[in-house]
Amino acid sequence: MNKLKVAVLISGRGSNMMALLEASRQPESSFEICLVIANRSDAGGLAAAQQAGIEADIIKFGDFETREAFEEALHDRIEHSDARLVCLAGFMWLLGDAFVQNWRDRLINIHPSLLPAFKGLNVQAQAVEMGVRFAGCTVHFVRHELDDGPIIVQAVVPVKPADDENILAARILEQEHIIYPQAVQWIGEGRIRVSGERVLIDNADIHNEAIISPFDTFD
Ligand code: GAR
Repeated sequence: MNKLKVAVLISGRGSNMMALLEASRQPESSFEICLVIANRSDAGGLAAAQQAGIEADIIKFGDFETREAFEEALHDRIEHSDARLVCLAGFMWLLGDAFVQNWRDRLINIHPSLLPAFKGLNVQAQAVEMGVRFAGCTVHFVRHELDDGPIIVQAVVPVKPADDENILAARILEQEHIIYPQAVQWIGEGRIRVSGERVLIDNADIHNEAIISPFDTFD
């Protein structure tokens, strides 16, 4: 089987990137990571990717005159790698229209909230402050608006009275490491289709009871 080639963009420690990498190395995986790009030279995930034998590059905004030139360089590097899917994994940069349009329906993101609630930064702290009873994470296709786009899969976790943002973030992160590889696996298997603002998933097998997803099938 031809595996889906995936590029992963990171800015920090890269734990989601590593979860994707581990999943990609399972025998039944439908995808492989062909490239990791960090937009910061101090991104911890960079060394981890290199140690795992993955091609890993740094492309920094500071080395370019404009946002457009930076994103063009990102685009060219990814194209050159033959990746067919781009995964944002803690990539702290709001991608502009040209990039998003070029990669429409081939660009996905993970966000540590149950979208459309709590967009932006420090969302686990916001969830604790707001006193919500449930939080979670979302994998979605990327559109022009921040943390917006058709939802592929979500996982939910409880918010407990004694939680602070770090405790909650750790509980959510555990689920991120499950649903991100799951979403990419489905895409690699050709089970995902975008229909308007909804994502249809063909015959998804769910092993994790925390995952909430509307399983509309193709047929
Ligand atoms: C993750 O919690 C991810 O969901 C979040 O950044 C963290 C990156 O951790 N992304 C966003 O907030 C995007 N809006 P990681 O580098 O260990 O994967």
